[in-house]
Amino acid sequence: MEQTITLQVNGEGRTFQAQTDSTLLEVLRDLYGLHSVRETCGIGICGACTVLLDDLPISSCLVLAPMANGCRVTTLEGVGAGGRLHPVQQAFIDRMGFQCGYCTPGMVLSAIALLQEQADPAPSAIAEYLAGNLCRCGCYPRIIEAVRLAAERLARRA
Ligand code: FES
Ligand code: FES
Repeated sequence: MEQTITLQVNGEGRTFQAQTDSTLLEVLRDLYGLHSVRETCGIGICGACTVLLDDLPISSCLVLAPMANGCRVTTLEGVGAGGRLHPVQQAFIDRMGFQCGYCTPGMVLSAIALLQEQADPAPSAIAEYLAGNLCRCGCYPRIIEAVRLAAERLARRA
């Protein structure tokens, strides 16, 4: 069965027909070509498919597209502005918060959500918040440093 669904994806209104059992992950990747949204486990464990749904990080492999109807969806493709990287993206580069980069889109989106909730999180709070995003390369110390750097830079801007 199909359903008409409307989403705001990275600031752009999108209306489409989707099977009622399509996941948000499938829609974002297959319909809109947003390949920063990655599928690994498909069962809500790894966080590689993280997107922001109305500013909250969720595993898009666990959300059926009709459940997101009327929501705002942000993927990594939508976080920069004016051709510039988001400060969290820049901090990940400056602190080398990645190795293979597979987990990075989900990590960056979760970190953005964290810094919207807590402007100055302690390393332990960062680790706790990012616990749902797994990094098989084990870059956690540098990821935490990157989030701290982004927090400091965002505080200087405010
Ligand atoms: S692919 Fe969605 S949590 Fe792993
Ligand atoms: S950088 Fe390779 S999985 Fe995190």
